[in-house]
Amino acid sequence: MAGIRIADVKSIQEAARIIRDGGLVSFPTETVYGLGADAGNPLAVARIFEAKARPRIDPLIVHVADADSARRYGNIPEIAQPLIEKFWPGPLTLVVEKTALVPPIVTAGLETVAIRMPSHPAALALIRTAGCGIAAPSANPFGYVSPTTAQHVAEQLGDKADMILDGGSCEVGVESTILSLADSPPRILRAGGVPIEELSETLGSIRVSLEIPERPQVPGQLRRHYATRTRLEILDLEAENIREGERTGLLALTPPEDPGKYAAVEVLSRSGSLREAAANLFSALRRLDARSLDRIIARPVPERDLGIAIMDRLRRCSA
Ligand code: TXA
Ligand code: MG
Repeated sequence: MAGIRIADVKSIQEAARIIRDGGLVSFPTETVYGLGADAGNPLAVARIFEAKARPRIDPLIVHVADADSARRYGNIPEIAQPLIEKFWPGPLTLVVEKTALVPPIVTAGLETVAIRMPSHPAALALIRTAGCGIAAPSANPFGYVSPTTAQHVAEQLGDKADMILDGGSCEVGVESTILSLADSPPRILRAGGVPIEELSETLGSIRVSLEIPERPQVPGQLRRHYATRTRLEILDLEAENIREGERTGLLALTPPEDPGKYAAVEVLSRSGSLREAAANLFSALRRLDARSLDRIIARPVPERDLGIAIMDRLRRCSA
């Protein structure tokens, strides 16, 4: 089992060596923990798919430490410039035409590649020290809730990663927003850490398709995903129908009026902050999932700002 190592200069150097030698490192980002390999090494990338039991048709994101490296992996169009200036480093992934440097296994054979520059200092240091782009999905078994702490990774993929770098709890807590610049007009493929409102503000008059697709646009955008093993339903208080003897868990933005009705309650943000709620979402889901409940009831949250990504994850969890 790979040990958890606090992300410091020494462990990051060792992790970078593992990446260069074709190994797998789980590392913190501001969104969720990733399971990374050298993006230019197809054998190493193949190990990611094995470790996660992830179908080979689901493409990976290449993580870079600066915009110039992004250009080595993708043909970055003009309209990306204001987005890169405003949101990199940060939770925005851009899908662009790929270059020959990207092996087909990374993109699942697509002619496009997803690229992002994470803002977590340990992620940036790892990428810089390794000296290559790092292909990484979220470090969870395929389909399950993404990890937001090093412990989450150790519990589920501990024996699969050669090292787990611990950089604390992820600040954003939901995955990056994915914007395809290979579509015309540009199209949102996944709601995430950069609110759609901020994206459209930056793009100004550039037309973007802001509807998050219900049906998969690319292999890998599955309806059921980010899922707890316990059945989850999105219900408001009026629609709630707890049966006699049923052990129900509640996931709610703010404290419920009658907490005694539930076998377990997870409040995402006492103050009702959607950002704080996003940061707590996956940990709260995991805790509820560990309580042997019959069902989890999730209260809908307002669909604005980070609430859009939260509702997207809850819907996929409940599908
Ligand atoms: O925040 C994040 O994005 C995290 C951290 C680790 O960076 N990563 C992450 O990766 O969420 P993953 O593999 O769990 O989700 C990446 C998704 C894929 O499922 C796929 O839908 C989309 O990105 N994707 C990747 N390459 C693509 C491409 N060429 N075209 C369209 N979508 C793509
Ligand atoms: Mg994932």
